[in-house]
Amino acid sequence: MLNHRFAGNERPIVSPNSAPIGVFDSGVGGLTVLRELYRQLPYESIIYFGDTARLPYGTRSQEQILKFVREILHWMVQQGAKMVIMACNTSSALALETVRSEFNVPILGLILPGARAAVQQGQRIGVIATPATAASDAYRRAILEVEPGTQVWQMGCPEFVPLIEQNRLEDPYTVSVAQKYLEPLLERQIDTLIYGCTHYPYLAPVLHRILPRSVKLVDPAVHVVAAAGQELDLLGLKNLRPPMPTRFCVSGNPQPFIRLASQWLGYAPIVERISLPELVYQQPVELETVE
Ligand code: DGL
Repeated sequence: MLNHRFAGNERPIVSPNSAPIGVFDSGVGGLTVLRELYRQLPYESIIYFGDTARLPYGTRSQEQILKFVREILHWMVQQGAKMVIMACNTSSALALETVRSEFNVPILGLILPGARAAVQQGQRIGVIATPATAASDAYRRAILEVEPGTQVWQMGCPEFVPLIEQNRLEDPYTVSVAQKYLEPLLERQIDTLIYGCTHYPYLAPVLHRILPRSVKLVDPAVHVVAAAGQELDLLGLKNLRPPMPTRFCVSGNPQPFIRLASQWLGYAPIVERISLPELVYQQPVELETVE
């Protein structure tokens, strides 16, 4: 296995506090986390990466997710990130535990903050997530660790991410798909529903139409950003000066990303394309010493 520890130390950071927070997702989903960062930590500079060339993540194997996440983390460290937020539940569920100790930057994921917030809200918790996140059982394990005895039902929703990335947010077909996914959870009389994928808050208008008012929605984005703020405080790494403009990067065609991001953020971002070969981690060649 590649050893990524201390990777990227070759790039000096002038002031660690003014260095950006790295945020990544497979696509536009992580923008729901970015928006929370703007709200809660407005002085932080952000570098956002959407791995749109390899989207969706939610139907991929753990091995693939681990490979992608390592590549992105290595790149983020090279860009000088002082902290990385996995704004992707699939990566948080399948890779966070493994990669956390491989890099010397703090790496935060969504599962634990989401689980902690959900148990404050209810005892019958539904989770809508990508198939990979649902199959990993990460939310159930995290919730039971925090509050044993809670009941948890996880629903894999394979059609949501492609529909969202195609901007079919209010399409009648999307509504019928949402009904199909929520029905089994509503039959269990859930009192709380976790957005177990960062793309899903885009569907809030549709979900609100289907869910009874009594069901509380938990968006882990809110809570991972709160955790990031606490961690920055603890490490003395908060930025106190005006931030740099957010740097947006994607691995695929920037145009569809720009269209969706403009709707969500309220401005059209400038987006750089980072080709996959730039991202793929090149293992340093070992130099042989000549005796
Ligand atoms: N938005 C991501 C998540 O939270 C990934 C979705 C996907 O690419 O399938 O899981």
